[in-house]
Amino acid sequence: MKEQIIVMGGGIIGLSCALELQRRGYQAVVVETQRCGGQASGAAAGMLAPYSENVEGPDAFFQLCRDSLLLYPQWQQTVRELSGLSFEYTDSGSLYVAYHAADLLALEGRLLWQRTHGSTGEIIEGSALRQMEPLLTKEAIAALYTPEESHIYAPHYVSALERACVGLGVHIFDSLERLEILKWQETAVVRAADGRTFEGDQLLVCSGAWAQHLAETFHMHIPVYPIRGQICAYEAAAKPVKHMVFCNQGYLVGKANGTLVCGASEDVAGYDTTVTDKGIGRLRNWNKQLFPFLSQQTPFHSWAGLRPATQDGFPLIGPAPDTNRVVLAVGHYRNGILLSPATALLAADLIANKQQQAYGGAFAADRFN
Ligand code: FAD
Ligand code: GLY
Repeated sequence: MKEQIIVMGGGIIGLSCALELQRRGYQAVVVETQRCGGQASGAAAGMLAPYSENVEGPDAFFQLCRDSLLLYPQWQQTVRELSGLSFEYTDSGSLYVAYHAADLLALEGRLLWQRTHGSTGEIIEGSALRQMEPLLTKEAIAALYTPEESHIYAPHYVSALERACVGLGVHIFDSLERLEILKWQETAVVRAADGRTFEGDQLLVCSGAWAQHLAETFHMHIPVYPIRGQICAYEAAAKPVKHMVFCNQGYLVGKANGTLVCGASEDVAGYDTTVTDKGIGRLRNWNKQLFPFLSQQTPFHSWAGLRPATQDGFPLIGPAPDTNRVVLAVGHYRNGILLSPATALLAADLIANKQQQAYGGAFAADRFN
């Protein structure tokens, strides 16, 4: 009989792990309190941008992001084939804009180490920059162009991932409202609010920003906190922005469906996903500085999601202490969409063999104990 793995949480991390486990011959059972993809994963801008999101240096987190980017072409193709659904996956490349000489110096420093780690990036200035992004503000003096970066349309992608899981035989139970862990040391048993129980050989925790609530259960520190990201979209059928464009305030991404997505705030609001005038107002202020044509426009849609942030900025991907039945894969903060394929491979390896060797143990789930 197949070993059964209970996956708690049906966001992009839980679904990706379930897909990989099922491919490796396990029976994955996803249990989701609400709706698969209904939280951070469905709210994301979908950028696959390890270079623009990691500006300090090539630490273990950058390596994980980069490894995951390299997995994406094949991984998303598998999701496409298994699901039979289409979703946007665009090789747009990115531009990280500098307004001042000091910003440019920082971009040049970043380019130096990033070129030794897979980037073929370059600094673009003057008319070459205007040619790449004709509507960019004249106040931008240069930009770091990274052709390797791409993006997906996250809500469609997560739906396809869910369909791919089902197609492969993953069992998915959603709208369970509340899940109580009854057993996790000798076997894994969870009970839903309606009394249904789910039993497995192991438990994989992928509950994103909600993972901290399990700290007491597993007798461990799980410093994962919700950081709200408020984000909005403009109608932009003529595709006025060609690349993902970053500045030190945020980013803009033109989507194939004719929208221009602009993100995102980072504020602390508990588990509140309300959008505020202040949050969206701030985005609009720097937006129109970057792309002056936006001062004539109003976003037609705004929303928010809860990023699972951790105390040290690294995810927790590893076994819980004192048991060989529980693995955690949580805390992907700003990069969970990008990190989903690499996390799925790591988590499946850990389910098979609890040794935490990859990336020098940098993501060990018990490192805060
Ligand atoms: P979630 O998607 O939040 O999924 C966790 C799931 O667990 C939820 O569905 C929840 O209902 C469920 N759950 C909670 N408690 C339980 C329980 N006890 N039992 C069972 N289920 C439970 N990342 C990128 O890589 N690129 C981007 O461009 C990007 N843009 C972003 C923009 C915004 C505005 C935001 C908010 C995030 C963005 N991110 C981006 C980050 C990314 O969305 C997250 O890192 C990622 O979605 C985390 O995935 P997850 O599956 O861990 O969490
Ligand atoms: N990675 C983009 C965001 O979290 O807003």
